Amino acid sequence: MLVDSFGRVHTNLRISVTDRCNIRCFYCMPADNVVFMNRRELLTFEEIERFARVAVSLGVNKIRLTGGEPLVRRELHRLVRMLCDIPGVLDIGVTTNGILLGEQAQELWDAGLRRLNVSLDALSPEKFREITRRDGFEKVIEGIQVAQRVGFDPVKINAVSVRGLTEDEIIPLGRFARETGVEMRFIEFMPLDADNAWEREKVLFAHEIIETLSNGIMPLAPVPDQNPHAPATEFEFADGVGRIGFIASVSQPFCMSCDRFRLTADGKIRNCLFSLEETDIKSMLRGGEPDEAIARAIVESVSAKKEGHEINTARFIQPDRPMYSIGG
Ligand code: 5AD
Ligand code: SF4
Repeated sequence: MLVDSFGRVHTNLRISVTDRCNIRCFYCMPADNVVFMNRRELLTFEEIERFARVAVSLGVNKIRLTGGEPLVRRELHRLVRMLCDIPGVLDIGVTTNGILLGEQAQELWDAGLRRLNVSLDALSPEKFREITRRDGFEKVIEGIQVAQRVGFDPVKINAVSVRGLTEDEIIPLGRFARETGVEMRFIEFMPLDADNAWEREKVLFAHEIIETLSNGIMPLAPVPDQNPHAPATEFEFADGVGRIGFIASVSQPFCMSCDRFRLTADGKIRNCLFSLEETDIKSMLRGGEPDEAIARAIVESVSAKKEGHEINTARFIQPDRPMYSIGG
């Protein structure tokens, strides 16, 4: 089992398949001149699958594919199928910006994918463009509709909340959840942006969003019996219509119940989003090391995990890699 020095058992692996993206969300990427990884630096599907098999032999049972934007990686559905075929994998998810979802939802479903998170911070096309610095709002909405038609249920929507920017989107997004059956998840803005423009003052806190939704739509009640390892705390509107989750990474860190670690697209293990250190696995995968050595590297990385991020302290140091290069 993958247990760290605080007794946290790690069963959840997040794999970034590319750092490329077809939009430029300000909380993640710089506006222009992004230097992407050379394609030869990316792990191949076969290398990812081998890593995943070793991780599963150590107790991992949930895998999520992230990016950059995972759907820009060619034939992602092939990787989904390869990972679904690993005995012991209970659950595969993908987190996408939704631009290419209309084209790919069916083939991802056919490959065995059942869990889908789509990032959408605004329901006003102008606000969408301001945040993502690209067009594509209609494609995302269409992608969500196609995904629902194909059978993904629920489609979860991730909305990063930023003070001074997204307040007016809260109620429309709450109504969107009620009207379409998607599950909304509001995420507090974290210091992982490429521009280093994060400030505490820009974090719109979960409790403020709860208040806005309760006053503007109707009261929210917590959903009973939640998975203690899920980062989102879930609520439901009083009439039972519309589910809203909150990922309060800044105001209520969930580090003590964290069960996840990450593999970057260029083959580094990170035991935390905010790690300042990583373990190079690509050179092991390409250097003929046996599975046992890979397993040992995973165990060592997880056991060295720190207690938690220190966003709320003066000691906090933002990692060199912004979100798109770590994987969400
Ligand atoms: N803070 C909070 N969430 C972020 N995401 C990307 N960057 C940040 C950030 N700085 C979210 C994306 C996506 C998920 C993978 O992470 O919106 O939904
Ligand atoms: Fe692309 Fe996701 Fe980063 Fe937005 S948050 S720029 S969609 S990788």
